[in-house]
Amino acid sequence: MWDTILDLTISRSFDASGFMRHQKHFKKISDEYIKHRTILITGGTSGIGKSLAQSLNKLGGTVFVTGRNPEKFQTSGLKEQGIHFISLDLCDLDSIEQIVSAMPSLDYVVCNAGAMPSDLTLVKDKYDAIFGSQVIGHLILIKQIIKQNKANEECAFHFNSSGGLLLKKLDLSDLTWKKNPYNKLSSYANAKRAQSILSEYLSMRFSQFTFSTSHPGWVDTPALCEAMPKFYEKFKNRLRTADQGADTLLWLVSKGQLIHSGKFWFDRKKKNLYPFFWTRESEKTRNAFIELIKDYLDY
Ligand SMILES: NC(=O)c1ccc[n+]([C@@H]2O[C@H](COP(=O)([O-])OP(=O)(O)OC[C@H]3O[C@@H](n4cnc5c(N)ncnc54)[C@H](OP(=O)(O)O)[C@@H]3O)[C@@H](O)[C@H]2O)c1
Repeated sequence: MWDTILDLTISRSFDASGFMRHQKHFKKISDEYIKHRTILITGGTSGIGKSLAQSLNKLGGTVFVTGRNPEKFQTSGLKEQGIHFISLDLCDLDSIEQIVSAMPSLDYVVCNAGAMPSDLTLVKDKYDAIFGSQVIGHLILIKQIIKQNKANEECAFHFNSSGGLLLKKLDLSDLTWKKNPYNKLSSYANAKRAQSILSEYLSMRFSQFTFSTSHPGWVDTPALCEAMPKFYEKFKNRLRTADQGADTLLWLVSKGQLIHSGKFWFDRKKKNLYPFFWTRESEKTRNAFIELIKDYLDY
């Protein structure tokens, strides 16, 4: 009862105290489906992705992280731990096919990379950088991994989304911000909502693989500090550590194909993607998004 009330406050659920309460029900993570498996984590050079990379490495996985800036990897300490780096800018959509061709076969892919740039830049004149990288870049990455037979038989793909999606209705009407002034928070929530629908769709389209979307809560990372300085200042003593933020992703990976594909998770629990009815996209918007996805999957 008390737990339910605290969870409803959001703030006492997404913060570190929420994690501490929820983790009382957690079981120790097993290495059964991690040991000797190969894992790709986009944006694994800092924050949540870095923490996840280290945990998976410790549990016997072979880990590849991607990022735009190789220097971040060089100074991260990951190389010394035996973690590998692949240079990848998810805004550079044309480069992804070639980069995937040099990748090993993968057991798990964690689509974690994400940033919230203050200035508007466009990808292919069709999307802002947030939607272009987090949704379309990851979609092309997944497509190429599958198309080039780099996905092992029981491969699972996990999106690191955000609780912000829960307040957002998918909106495809102005992805280049021609009609409205650029708003990074709105674009970010929209991209995260799109990721959840993408994951649902892919779970049906590629039913031999497993897909998930999860959110990490509020986590003390460079991205949060830079993108939302006022929020960071207010909550900095209550934020989750990167390890706490990475916990659900680690747990999802550790489950292999045992989870229900296409679902949304928080603190190892399945959650409703639409707790507020007004955030459900219209059929027309959903169909338009599915058409957009299909265009990229056509091969
Ligand atoms: N921190 C939170 O409270 C919070 C809450 C909800 C969701 N999340 C999500 O968690 C994920 C990780 O964020 P974080 O907080 O851990 O941030 P972070 O520490 O800044 O890590 C972001 C990672 O993504 C990479 N990256 C950013 N843009 C990229 C692009 N266009 N192409 C390729 N790689 C890119 C970064 O490396 P380079 O800069 O070198 O490319 C870095 O490795 C994001 O998707 C974020 O939306 C975070």
